[in-house]
Amino acid sequence: MKRSITKAILPAAGLGTRFLPATKASPKEMMPIIDKPLIQYAVEEAISCGIEEFVVITGKYKRAIEDHFDSAYELEEKLRSSGKKKLLEEINKLSHINFAYIRQRVALGLGHAILCAKPFVKDEPFVVILSDDVIDPDYPVLRDMIRVYDELKCPIVALEEVPKTEVSRYGIVDGTLDGEVFRIKDLVEKPKPGSAPSNLAIIGRYILTPDIFDVLEKQKPGAGGEIQLTDALRELLNRRVIYGYLTKGNRYDAGDKLGYLKATVDFALRNEEFGGLFKDYLVQKLKS
Ligand code: UTP
Repeated sequence: MKRSITKAILPAAGLGTRFLPATKASPKEMMPIIDKPLIQYAVEEAISCGIEEFVVITGKYKRAIEDHFDSAYELEEKLRSSGKKKLLEEINKLSHINFAYIRQRVALGLGHAILCAKPFVKDEPFVVILSDDVIDPDYPVLRDMIRVYDELKCPIVALEEVPKTEVSRYGIVDGTLDGEVFRIKDLVEKPKPGSAPSNLAIIGRYILTPDIFDVLEKQKPGAGGEIQLTDALRELLNRRVIYGYLTKGNRYDAGDKLGYLKATVDFALRNEEFGGLFKDYLVQKLKS
């Protein structure tokens, strides 16, 4: 049976100001958690949910992303001749995947980044993954979202309950629970804590339908002077039903320094090779 959704957009053209100076000349999406860049975690998660084709929205200083998913002849030869089979397999494990790259010339916002991918998506539904939102690999919310999409054929955003003091960092939805999904009544980008309709925040996993492009084409800049996806979804809500799906596992905002540290510690503790040793180290450290 042909899958309903096979394409993913990976917006990666943001300036990453929360992580300066690290992101001045190198992509935030290439920052590693242990030994793998954020964007590779996102790609592997999508593949585990049945996605087959990727378009990365890139910008200035983002060339390292293209190089990362390209072949590396010299390195491969070196690993082959020195018998490092496991490492060779590791660096080649995504070599069968199709990547396309579209440049967003000016970082005008997430909504605008998604609009740049219109020629790639054409008239199919698609997923959007923000690599700096790292999701516990044991709970790939996208898989549930695709299953729900197959049933409801509506756009779906991933949701997380966040502390009320943090609502102004997110797009927040007003919705009512309808079975396992929230039927969204309204969305607002970065509301002030007192005016937020709930503490249900949109996180970086979306299933969208091509009609979002018509809205994005007319979308005016919103919060922060950027063309916001949340504003476009709010407009789309006048035309069709949009659902939210609550994530189950941990989600780390790795575009933020504290979130990045938390992801690194949690992934390190689960690491098969040195998780135990790392835990011993942390225990000692916290005692001293
Ligand atoms: P963020 O809100 O994290 O913005 O973007 P940012 O610029 O990357 O980082 P900060 O906030 O300045 O630290 C969410 C996602 O949207 C992409 C980013 O690359 C990130 O994956 N994005 C954002 C674009 O592709 N283009 C844009 O114009 C803005």
